[in-house]
Parts: sequence; C-alpha cells; structure tokens
Amino acid sequence: MSPLAVTRTLPADATTAALRADVAHGLTRTPKQLPPKWFYDARGSDLFEAITALPDYYPTRAEREILISRSADIAAATGARTLVELGSGSSDKTRHLIKALTGLHTYVPVDVSESALAAAGEALLAAHPELTVHALVADFQQGFALPGTPGPRLLAFLGGTIGNLLPDERAAFLRSVRDLLAPGDALLLGTDLVKDEATLVAAYDDAQGVTAEFDKNVLNVINRELGADFDPDDFRHVAVWDTEREWIEMRLRARRELTVKVPALDLVVPFAAGEEIRTEISAKFREEGVRGELGAAGFELREWWTDEAGRFALSLSVRT
Ligand code: SAH
Ligand code: TRP
Repeated sequence: MSPLAVTRTLPADATTAALRADVAHGLTRTPKQLPPKWFYDARGSDLFEAITALPDYYPTRAEREILISRSADIAAATGARTLVELGSGSSDKTRHLIKALTGLHTYVPVDVSESALAAAGEALLAAHPELTVHALVADFQQGFALPGTPGPRLLAFLGGTIGNLLPDERAAFLRSVRDLLAPGDALLLGTDLVKDEATLVAAYDDAQGVTAEFDKNVLNVINRELGADFDPDDFRHVAVWDTEREWIEMRLRARRELTVKVPALDLVVPFAAGEEIRTEISAKFREEGVRGELGAAGFELREWWTDEAGRFALSLSVRT
C-alpha cells in the first residue's frame, strides 16, 4: 500500500491570517457576515457528517442514489485515470465512483479540512491498496495547482457545495476549474434542485438541532483562534428561503443586545437584539441555469441525472 501523500498549498499560518481578515471585515460591516469555510474545523467536519445522516437532510442520500445508479456510465464516458474531488470531506459517496473507475490511477481529494482529508485518505487506501491518493490541503477558491498525474481527468464537485458560493463567486470558480483541466476532461457536478419551501427549510434547520450546532460552530472557531468571547447560546440559528434568488440563507440571530470582544483583532463588536450574522447561502438550481453557467465557463453539459424523486441532480460536462 502506497502511503498517503499530503500537500499543503496553504502555509500553516494562512488559516489564522485569512480568518482574521474575514472576521475583521465581516463583523464590522452591515449586515454582519462570515464566510462558510470556517465551519469546517475537526468538530465542524464531524457535525457535517452527522448532518448527512439526518432524516431532514435529503441531499446526501439523493446524490448517493444517483452515484450508485450512474457510476458505470460515468466511468464509460470519461475513462478517467485521475479523479480530482474538490471539498471532498469524508469522500464517502466517492467510493461508488472509485469502485466503478476501473482504470483509475490517482485520486486527488482537495479540502480545507486536514482532519477530514487524513481520515478519508487512510480509509480509501485501506480499501484500494493499488490506488495513489494525493491529498491537497487547499482553498478551492484560491488558485492552486494539481499534481502531475495521468489524464484523462475527471473533476468531481459533489454535495451541492457549489451552491454555497455567491453567483459571481460561482462564475469565477467554474472558470478556474476549467483552467485546471485539459480539453476533453470531464466535470461531475452535484446541484441541489429548487423545490417546496418546507422541505428546503427543514433540511437546513433540522428537528434534532444538529444544523444549528454546526452553524454556531463558526463562533467556537473564532473563540479558539482569535480569543473571542462569543457565547453560542446567545444566538439562534435561522434558515430562510429566498424565493427570488432561490437560495437558503443561514443566519445566527442575537437573542438579546450584547457585545463580543475579539482580542486578537482589538475589536469590540456590538449586536442589537435580533441582529443577524449571515453565515451561509445554499443556492438551489434548475437544469437550464446549470447548463448556462457551465456553458459560460467553457463546459458543455452532456448528461443530467436526477434521483427518482427529482430532488437533486448530478451533471456530467466536458471541458471544451
Ligand atoms: N463532498 C462532501 C462534503 C461536502 S461539505 C459531501 O458531498 O458530503 C463541504 C466540504 O467542502 C467540507 O469538507 C469543507 O471542509 C470543504 N470546503 C468548504 N469550503 C472550502 C474551500 N473554500 N476550499 C476547500 N474546501 C472547502
Ligand atoms: N454543501 C452543504 C449544503 O449546502 C453544506 C451545508 C449543509 C450547510 N447544511 C448546512 C452549511 C448548514 C451551513 C449550514 O447543503
């Protein structure tokens, strides 16, 4: 079994520097906001895994259903020798794809969460001793280079994570993904679909309160890294469906008037009662929108597969 190779494209102190900048900016503007990548420390990655098993959170099950039924088609269409996965997390659903890709030489999981990458990499190597696994600790919104591995390449971006980017960030991101690939390489993209409000809100504000805990974990990260004194219990997790923009917006709402100190930034942040921090959006998609956004970035959509219930889509595109 070849050992797990790990490359950090982020210097060890990049996390703190970027977090400081994001918190300084996000907590002094109106409305307050924090970027979603800070959810995923080791505890955040574990909480997200717990979310994927919740009865209310359907996207993981729906996407797994599609991967199980379409992996053989994906393998035949791409003949991929390298599989790159952005925001790979536990790589749990990816197993179905790896099993079907019989000519696969190298798997390159890319994530900001080093703990998730290490656990996923070790588990995959145990199941596939012949596979080369080259994990990249990187921010997929910053430029990063892929290791020189054999083509054709298939780049997977699953879980509906593309919906966590704002529309202009999405366009820039898709163009950067195109630039990582050669003509004829493929993109496998998971997108959650527009559906009734009740189903969507329940998926992002589950009955067990796990999503609320996950959302509030960003406050624990700021406390630990920047010495802040957030009391997560002072905030309520809210998920709102924006009909116009067709996205779920997650917010942390102050239960009372309060102030928070962030010593590392020499910052005191006042909150009015009911004031909110926007922590995350999760955009929902329609086929024509996805086709258009992919086309604008230099991809041609070839396949559009949904689960039986039509809740989630997996699309296969070719880099032109
Ligand atoms: N693909 C998995 C996990 C989705 S959760 C699934 O479908 O279940 C989103 C994952 O993306 C997390 O593992 C998180 O750590 C990672 N992530 C979020 N923002 C990121 C960024 N900017 N760069 C790299 N990884 C990121
Ligand atoms: N990519 C996931 C999604 O949009 C991430 C996610 C699920 C999430 N539940 C969340 C992010 C709750 C923040 C809060 O479905």
